[in-house]
Amino acid sequence: MTKSFKRTTVTAALIYANGPIHIGHIAGCYLPADIYVRYLRATGQDVKFISGTDEHGVPITIKAKKEGVTPQEVVDKYYGIIKDSFEEFGISFDIYSRTSNQVHHEMSQDIFKRIYEKGQFSEETTEQYYDEKAKTFLADRYIIGTCPKCGNESAYGDQCERCGSTLSPTELINPRSALSGEPPIMKATKNWYLPLDAMQPMLEKYIESHPEWKPNVLGQVKSWLNDGLKPRAMTRDLDWGIKVPLPDTEGKVMYVWFDAPIGYISMTKELTDQWELYWKDPESRLVNFIGKDNIVFHCLIFPAMCMADGRFIVADNVPANEFMNLEGDKISTSRNWAVWLHEYLREFEGKQDILRYVLAASAPETKDSDFTWADFQTRNNSELVNIFGNFVNRAVVLTEKGFESKVPVLGALEEIDTNVLNELAAYPQQIAEAIEHYKFREALTLMMEVARLGNKYLAETEPWKVADPLRKGTILNIALQISANLAILCEPFMPFTAQKLKEMFGLSNVNWSNAGNGKLLAEGQPIKNLGHLFTQIDNSVVAAQVQKLEDAKRQNLLAGKEVTAIKEEIQYDDFSKMDIRIGTIVAAEKVAKSKKLLKLTINDGLKERTILSGIGEHFQAENIVGKQVTFLANLAPRPMMGMVSEGMVLMAEDKDGSLSFIQPDKQVWNGAIVA
Ligand code: 2FM
Ligand code: ZN
Repeated sequence: MTKSFKRTTVTAALIYANGPIHIGHIAGCYLPADIYVRYLRATGQDVKFISGTDEHGVPITIKAKKEGVTPQEVVDKYYGIIKDSFEEFGISFDIYSRTSNQVHHEMSQDIFKRIYEKGQFSEETTEQYYDEKAKTFLADRYIIGTCPKCGNESAYGDQCERCGSTLSPTELINPRSALSGEPPIMKATKNWYLPLDAMQPMLEKYIESHPEWKPNVLGQVKSWLNDGLKPRAMTRDLDWGIKVPLPDTEGKVMYVWFDAPIGYISMTKELTDQWELYWKDPESRLVNFIGKDNIVFHCLIFPAMCMADGRFIVADNVPANEFMNLEGDKISTSRNWAVWLHEYLREFEGKQDILRYVLAASAPETKDSDFTWADFQTRNNSELVNIFGNFVNRAVVLTEKGFESKVPVLGALEEIDTNVLNELAAYPQQIAEAIEHYKFREALTLMMEVARLGNKYLAETEPWKVADPLRKGTILNIALQISANLAILCEPFMPFTAQKLKEMFGLSNVNWSNAGNGKLLAEGQPIKNLGHLFTQIDNSVVAAQVQKLEDAKRQNLLAGKEVTAIKEEIQYDDFSKMDIRIGTIVAAEKVAKSKKLLKLTINDGLKERTILSGIGEHFQAENIVGKQVTFLANLAPRPMMGMVSEGMVLMAEDKDGSLSFIQPDKQVWNGAIVA
């Protein structure tokens, strides 16, 4: 840290209370924030960790409409789910609150009023889309029309989900209201704007004073500044949100991005009477952890609000992460392509630290990253089990066997001992530096190096082969000291494991300043063997998770596909020309040089006929022999791949593209006619 501060407020994004938490949220924002806070606490710093749910805005009303419930019911439901899963996962907020609280409404209105009274808002009357039938102005998301870029007929007023273009509602062709389906009219409405254009020089100065920010954050901010900031409306014509505290503003609420970041302040107020110290003293520091989609709001708009108000400090850093993908594909709530935290906690009870470790190790710190279940398994089995857990276990078990589970006496040190103790002593500072610079992956790697160091030390000194009890005890004393150090060093990343280690080694009242110390444990001190810290994860566990994702993908395809319209009408004669029959597949083989074709031999009751069928990507030849199938018997023979196909096997295609044979519901004789 370059500048010294008296206290730090760490915030983690106030997530919309319209769905549960997934691993992308955790790796992107909450876990790095928690690692940072736990480290600050361990170094004895004054820190408050603030977060909660964002309960206003269109995302909430859209979810309510989809689920057929009220917005209030939506936020009540998800606040509980989100809060509980964070708690169980060990995200150590000092407060996890909600923007629907009275304190928050009052503070947002107070800040709005103050900015208004200082004459810092500009007022503008603009024409906005209005639904005459539903008697309401329409938020961008509530206007649907044809995308001018790709022709998608169900593009939203802010975005086309097919081609990904950002749109404004007036760009849509044939706009209609999502509420009534009617074309909206244009109607004049007055709103209050934050004149970001006029504030740009001030904001530029602020950004320039932070060249140390992460390049991905600065890159995004600078591109906004280069494009030139525009005034942004801080009020909306909506009925869900915080009422605008001005006369004649019926039907208007604050823009959700105005009230949400104020939540950080109001929640600090809920937490402590001392809240003003954290937000108004220039010797207090603010760090906002967020995902990359929130950068502009935290680096430009919220600071602009604080500057306009004039009472509050602005962020010292906004260490935003990029996105985490899942098995190579973008995480998507609507497509259910996600690993949900509450489900993980249910399915992997007591294994919070494995996920914390894996997500911290592959967090999208500098670029998008990818979570795979195979990686989850490898990191657990070959890092947590084989290195970390194995090292601690060997030290503890050997002490149990040879020294009645008491820390052995430390005898004369050999070179290898002094070296390992010197190396140990250097790690806490290195890990601290990495964390202070928001390099959590690096910090985690360094922490694991300490476990590797211990493993290597045991492998080289081989205490199990040493006969001299004093020498053997000395080696184990050192191995136990390293293990005890891990209890301190791993705490920001794996707090549950740290707790267990502390219990094993009877450590209480230790903090970061004790780390690196080779005499953390006193000679003769009892240690407890609490069993293995980590256990192997089997292939079957991983396979089940991958299957779950594949099922979700399939479900999704099923939900998305529509039944096609019925073809043109035909007469009975048209139908009766077709000779459709039942036969049995008596042999099947792949056609050489073709991915799709299978050569089927079918007993049609008269003879065996060959049918070449394009189902090779759906079925294994050996699995379909013996099946009765339906086939078109009088289709003109067709030469294909040097053979002749005599007919066509009929198939039904499911919504996800998978194929299925049409079979009689009981065995019938080969040659049975279908009519
Ligand atoms: O992206 C989101 O989920 C927003 N609700 C984050 C808000 S962060 C802060 F400003 F409150
Ligand atoms: Zn489009």
